[in-house]
Amino acid sequence: MRLLLLTGKGGVGKSTVAAGTAALAAAAGHRTLVLSTDAAHSLGDAFGVPVGPDPTEVADRLFVQQVDAQLRFQESWGEVQRYLLSVLDAAGVDRVAAEELTVLPGAEEVLALLELRLQVLSGAWDVVVVDCAPTAETLRLLALPEALGWYMQRVFPLQARVVSTLKPVLARAAGVPMPGGSVFDAVERLHAELDEVRALLQGPSASVRLVLTPEAVVVAEARRSWTTLSLYGYRVDGVVANRVFPDADGDDWRAGWVAAQQQVLAEVDQSFVGLPVWRSRYRPAEPVGVEALRDLAEEVYAGADPLVVPTGDGPFRVTRTADGAVLRLRLPLVARDQVDLARTHDELVVTVGSYRRPITLPAALVHLDVAGARVEDGELQVRFRARHDRSRGASA
Ligand SMILES: Nc1ncnc2c1ncn2[C@@H]1O[C@H](COP(=O)(O)OP(=O)(O)OP(=O)(O)O)[C@@H](O)[C@H]1O
Ligand SMILES: [Mg+2]
Repeated sequence: MRLLLLTGKGGVGKSTVAAGTAALAAAAGHRTLVLSTDAAHSLGDAFGVPVGPDPTEVADRLFVQQVDAQLRFQESWGEVQRYLLSVLDAAGVDRVAAEELTVLPGAEEVLALLELRLQVLSGAWDVVVVDCAPTAETLRLLALPEALGWYMQRVFPLQARVVSTLKPVLARAAGVPMPGGSVFDAVERLHAELDEVRALLQGPSASVRLVLTPEAVVVAEARRSWTTLSLYGYRVDGVVANRVFPDADGDDWRAGWVAAQQQVLAEVDQSFVGLPVWRSRYRPAEPVGVEALRDLAEEVYAGADPLVVPTGDGPFRVTRTADGAVLRLRLPLVARDQVDLARTHDELVVTVGSYRRPITLPAALVHLDVAGARVEDGELQVRFRARHDRSRGASA
């Protein structure tokens, strides 16, 4: 099963390209689902038909789905929410305010990811195309399963222990309801499911495509996205430059725009070295409906297979050296001084700008010391060396 995610700045054409790519895949004989994690739900508009919360068939083998986040929220989080409400109620918090407090921030998108998991596991699809929310939200979302995993591993077992120890005491003393086993079960289930989603998205048959328009600010954001997606272990396998003006026919105003776009497109080619940069012409009308979308995608991929599985190394790998190992992380478009590293016993925290990823070190690296780091050819290389045995005063 092939999993494709389309992301990019607001309004650049993510939904259009996602829908077009899916239409092309279906036409090539694949059972295809395109689903949206975006609350704005413009997929229905792109296909020009009403689309429901379950997969809706819009052409042969082509299904569209707009996830009903509210429904999924109740299913996954309802148990936890009911418990939190009982606690707040015991504390005398007003019911309406309490409901506000128990809503998970960003829950809608997270739950759209849970739906993605269900669809992938259903075995009904050869191809699943995900129309993501604009970049910033998508990045936050894609970083979440890992961040939550980190939190769960460290805080949750501790909390569970504390709770079981204090339970009899608290229940008598404060009148605060204690969480039942089912609350912990619900949290644990949510964590396990999000972890599966993460594994799917970072897996060998998944990749992310960046959609952009040839404008300097849009390209700048796409560059940062490439770096950040790589930081979190997601594989970017191509760029779609959308809304490219056709050549001007002697019209000065248009000639000005065409020239400006050509300059930005040259920068795009330079920035995303190693990735295919596909182009899509600015159409005289909105591409709406299966046929128009498929036409657009045919032009974009220009005969190339839109589903080809990216080859080469994943974003993260470890190689042995004579006296230790090197951990390599794809980190395109950054310089060494933009990367901050911190090491604790079993993890390496990599920070780029405001994004930070705690990487749990493979067992083989835990007992080695960090000996240095550099950035070369779009790759962060962290050198590990056998630990200096200070207790024996090794000075040779
Ligand atoms: N190549 C194109 N030529 C003409 N119109 C286009 C082209 N690509 C997209 N559009 C139109 O531009 C508008 C925005 O496209 P789309 O909804 O796909 O963007 P988006 O990135 O998904 O936006 P959002 O961030 O709001 O989700 C739509 O009306 C769409 O029909
Ligand atoms: Mg959209």
